Amino acid sequence: MTKKAFIFDLDGVIVDTAKYHFLAWKKLAATIGVDFTKQQNEQLKGVSRVKSLEKILAWGNKTITEAEFANLMALKNTDYLTYIDKMDEQEILPDVAKTLDFLRDKKQHIALGSASKNARMILEKVNILEKFDIIVDGNDVTKGKPDPEVFLKAAEHLNVPNEHCVVFEDAVAGIQAANNAGMISIGIGEKDILHEADYVFTDFTEIDIDFLNELISR
Ligand code: G6P
Ligand code: MG
Repeated sequence: MTKKAFIFDLDGVIVDTAKYHFLAWKKLAATIGVDFTKQQNEQLKGVSRVKSLEKILAWGNKTITEAEFANLMALKNTDYLTYIDKMDEQEILPDVAKTLDFLRDKKQHIALGSASKNARMILEKVNILEKFDIIVDGNDVTKGKPDPEVFLKAAEHLNVPNEHCVVFEDAVAGIQAANNAGMISIGIGEKDILHEADYVFTDFTEIDIDFLNELISR
């Protein structure tokens, strides 16, 4: 049996950092006189920091200089990191650690595939960095999801064929990236939103051992 690679997105899959991204973007948007809603925040899931700011500026009809753009990016991240700094193991979403441990026990490859440049730090904060064989994050890619680059890099590093990779994702763009890579896509969230995924579960408490065993032995 070939060893599979299980690739986890970070934000919205392992931890709920969307609420911290929201607070930081909202504060930043207010400084430039732009209103930013929870609904808009939903549209930033899986979207890189640069692309997120571009979207916020477009929603607010704002044009700024390159220097201002760089400054706002830095401000947002500094504020975001004040929330991240307070994170600990309690913030790992239900049954995620159990799933990682099960897959480790079954000697499967485990990877992180995230758009975040803060991924490593967050995994350290919640104390699960050592559960991953490889981390591919926003520092390693030039193309954002739905481009498959982040997942393809993980598969390549692990030397696992794409069709033997399973991706857990909460963002539509992330599911599309997994599908574009020819990998098995598992949505974590709402069925209506993640309908392009091969499977969808509300969260990891819904994913049972029989299902994981089936994926491993396929
Ligand atoms: C994830 C989140 C996005 C975030 C992106 C970049 O994909 O879902 O909301 O913008 O990572 O995160 P970073 O930590 O690099 O700002
Ligand atoms: Mg995500």
